[in-house]
Amino acid sequence: MRIGDFMKDNWGRTIDYLRISVTDRCNLRCQYCMPEEGIEKAGHHDILSFEEIIQVAQAFLNLGIRKIRITGGEPTVRKGIVPFIHELKSTGVEELTMTTNGQSLVELAKPLKDAGLDRINVSLDTLHPDKYKEISRGGDVTKVLRGIEKALEVGLTPVKVNAVLMKGINDEEIEELCAWTVDHPIHVRFIELMPIGHAREMKDRFMPVEEVLKIVPTAVPISKEDPSSVASLYKIPGAMGTIGLIQPLSNHFCGDCNRVRLHANGNIQLCLHNQKTFSIRDAIKEGNLEETLQDILLQKPEGHKLAQGIQVSTNMSKIGG
Ligand code: 5AD
Ligand code: SF4
Repeated sequence: MRIGDFMKDNWGRTIDYLRISVTDRCNLRCQYCMPEEGIEKAGHHDILSFEEIIQVAQAFLNLGIRKIRITGGEPTVRKGIVPFIHELKSTGVEELTMTTNGQSLVELAKPLKDAGLDRINVSLDTLHPDKYKEISRGGDVTKVLRGIEKALEVGLTPVKVNAVLMKGINDEEIEELCAWTVDHPIHVRFIELMPIGHAREMKDRFMPVEEVLKIVPTAVPISKEDPSSVASLYKIPGAMGTIGLIQPLSNHFCGDCNRVRLHANGNIQLCLHNQKTFSIRDAIKEGNLEETLQDILLQKPEGHKLAQGIQVSTNMSKIGG
């Protein structure tokens, strides 16, 4: 159904947010995302070219998408990412953002900003070098921290930091991550570990995000600017940044879900917690993308079935978060 310039799904939800995974490759191997040995990589022929992604994005924009987030794997490991961002921004998309692990942000923050990227989310679960190396299996936290500074300096703002909470791994660092928001304009969002792909074997690490409020009782609730945002927001009085809590496992936000995902291989995924995907490769070749995407969108499920134990086995590196 198309009403005015907006795309509505079968449940009356406006779909205006597209997340594009441009690669399933990554320069890290985070414990909850990938096995230590890495994943079987998609070959270059299996993934959409940047040109094809722009075509799909354009079709989505014609249908009413207003906001696009680029994800991976790690999007910055794909060659040509900066000119791609420039092309994508030239389509007229209102808001263009990226989720990155920040390993290359020192070098890329300025070129990405100049290419038209509006802001970034950085995945960072700890501020400690050894812990970071352990969680990401080899990453360098100083690169991420310097990258975040650079992002603030060039105006890729507001900078949001995603920290996945894991009992016995980074729960002792909640206080420090929150304290960081006091004197930095940084928005730290704690995310509950989702049982997706590789992380299904980490059930015992699950920790409810409300624990954060017990550890940092000075944080007070504040209202969120964007109603479709998945985080409940808090702030330590007087702080420059905010603290967000994200509970992906509750059904709270299914009713407001405004998003759809494109995998690097040309599959559309309509719900993070629903394995089903739809290939649009033929539609790209045949030139009937808009009609095809509209048909696919009408199949977006009303909500997920995690409570009934239905989980997704696809690794997050393919879905893009
Ligand atoms: N549960 C919660 N968050 C996850 N991410 C990756 N895997 C999981 C998981 N199983 C996060 C990453 C990144 C974002 C893309 O998704 O930390 O911030
Ligand atoms: Fe790479 Fe992100 Fe997965 Fe970590 S969570 S391995 S940074 S894709």
